[in-house]
Amino acid sequence: MESASLAYDRFEWVPLGFDSRAVVWRRRNGWTHDLWGAYDGTDLVGIVDVATCLDDTLDTAWLFPHVLPGRRRQRIGTRLVRQAELSLEPSRTRLVGTAHYPEGQCDIAPPVRFAESLGYRLATTETVRELDLTRYQRSAGEVRGYGIQTFVNGVPHDLRVDVGRIKGLVDADAPSGELDWGAITVTPEQYAAELEIWRRQERTVVESVALTEDRHVVAWTCVVASSNAARPASVEGTLVLTDHRGHGLGQAVKDASLIELKRASPNLQRVRTSSDDENQWMHRINERMGFAAIEVEGLVQRSVSDSIR
Ligand SMILES: CC(C)(COP(=O)(O)OP(=O)(O)OC[C@H]1O[C@@H](n2cnc3c(N)ncnc32)[C@H](O)[C@@H]1OP(=O)(O)O)[C@@H](O)C(=O)NCCC(=O)NCCS
Repeated sequence: MESASLAYDRFEWVPLGFDSRAVVWRRRNGWTHDLWGAYDGTDLVGIVDVATCLDDTLDTAWLFPHVLPGRRRQRIGTRLVRQAELSLEPSRTRLVGTAHYPEGQCDIAPPVRFAESLGYRLATTETVRELDLTRYQRSAGEVRGYGIQTFVNGVPHDLRVDVGRIKGLVDADAPSGELDWGAITVTPEQYAAELEIWRRQERTVVESVALTEDRHVVAWTCVVASSNAARPASVEGTLVLTDHRGHGLGQAVKDASLIELKRASPNLQRVRTSSDDENQWMHRINERMGFAAIEVEGLVQRSVSDSIR
């Protein structure tokens, strides 16, 4: 159901596969996923996945509605989202969703129109970019004063506190329009739980870090490839700590991770990355590396008080 919807709407979408997707829905790492289905008799015609984190962002719920392409504009999406909203704990007052559309088409994008009809507003936009990994060649120069190291399927244990701190800063430190995320901390246990999910999905995780001489992580990036080589690998995040910006570390770690990804997943064709449209620094890095824009991911948001839900 979700795959049919995404394949219809998103640029050259390749599904993760049912078993891998189900791993995320069943995961036990602080997130819960409640799935609501809309049925016509015994036929499933729509779903909404309601994701909430139990460890942080306790005021927020993520809603991902999907309606079969042939069954749209029949108010199925509206009923699913309203039902999901009613099911939430009153403390979840910030509702967030995503809407993908081709560049320059925000004004006529169906998911944005749909979200607006339900009182959600576009909070920010991210440009999604794609790179042909088969043609990728090293793009970063030498960086002085830092060591760049790359790890497959997990960084060493002595780096996990530092990496967790950086992972928790990615959303807060990067521009995110009106979403305005706060910093969180990803503990070594949470880091290990996420790795375990990726392992169960048979995905390959490549992380590159920049280290100071006393082995502190000051820059990090992560790219995750699925076992289906036709599906683009996805860059999970990239961050350079404030005091270490301006030395080319962002491109250095991203470049190192892609070179290793080519070696670890030789059949992989494509890599996707996205960053907020206000984040000119990351967009410039991505352009220099050869990532080309393919679509926009809009993030929509609605604030609710319990009385109006
Ligand atoms: C977005 C989606 C869930 C909408 O489901 P739906 O059942 O077709 O939506 P509804 O029939 O409840 O539409 C409610 C209102 O949204 C707006 N809307 C929905 N689709 C629209 C479209 N293609 N063009 C313009 N407005 C649209 C309209 O105002 C509509 O009311 P109307 O039909 O009386 O004019 C569906 O298109 C879908 O599955 N898209 C792919 C997944 C996705 O983008 N989800 C994220 C949404 S934030």
